[in-house]
Amino acid sequence: MNIDKYAVFGNPIEQSRSPLIHQTFAKQRQETIDYQKILGQKGNFSANLDEFFADPNAKGCNITSPFKQDGVKWVTELSPAAVKAGAINTIIRLDENRFRGETTDGPGLVLDLKHQNFNFENARILLIGVGGAARGVILPILEQGVKDITIVNRTKQKATELANWFANDQVCAADFAEVNASLSQPFDLIVNCTSASLSGQVPDISEYVLSRANMVYDMVYLSEPTVFVQLAKTLGVANTSDGLGMLIGQAAHSFKLWRGYMPDIEPVMQQIRRML
Ligand code: ATR
Repeated sequence: MNIDKYAVFGNPIEQSRSPLIHQTFAKQRQETIDYQKILGQKGNFSANLDEFFADPNAKGCNITSPFKQDGVKWVTELSPAAVKAGAINTIIRLDENRFRGETTDGPGLVLDLKHQNFNFENARILLIGVGGAARGVILPILEQGVKDITIVNRTKQKATELANWFANDQVCAADFAEVNASLSQPFDLIVNCTSASLSGQVPDISEYVLSRANMVYDMVYLSEPTVFVQLAKTLGVANTSDGLGMLIGQAAHSFKLWRGYMPDIEPVMQQIRRML
């Protein structure tokens, strides 16, 4: 029997929980899949994909940092969301020679926030950072009927370029000084899209702005609450979350694209949380 093959590519990749997550999803329907983690070669990533997909049993893969933009160049077609994001985290084999690039990071974040009862309708959103993580979530958040999205970055120029790329008057750019000085309506949701928490750093957002948010979300997850989540909790923010649910949510959306059904995320969340 041929077993469908999947993989996640990144560099580094040892830390990835994706093999466990996807194997667990498959077991929910007594399916068996092969899902490996593969160290991608910086500067020659397309060779990794060529080699992997040379096997006809290879049905798809995930791509993580730093290859999300490289993946765009390799695939034969892109979803509209992937075109907008300029980055992909999922490849789906369509037939022998056709491969579609998708980005499920944004849908994963939206799924997790809905799961946590966040109300997107008319919400004001602040995204911190302009890396691949931020790019992928803008369009899916806009599609939820939010009021506006402010992108804040240390280097404002990069935030401006990203906002311009979306060419939508609901998306604007700012630097931290501007956000911190603003007396406008509070943000309903502040998302830290930087990896600052991994090095114990907190972006320059003022405690006042943070404290007024209804929900504060950090895309990073660790065994303990991240410094950003801790600060928000200390400031009395009612709803805080790390990014574990986004990780599981993006995986669930990738899995659905490959295998045609949405797995149950809740038991997998609990399992991975216990292992952190
Ligand atoms: P990616 O999202 O592509 O994986 P990243 O390194 O996690 O990349 O995030 C890059 C983004 O995080 C950038 O917007 C960076 O800001 P600059 O463009 O000004 O460099 C932002 N970033 C990283 N560390 C930060 C920190 N300590 N405070 C504020 N922003 C930070």
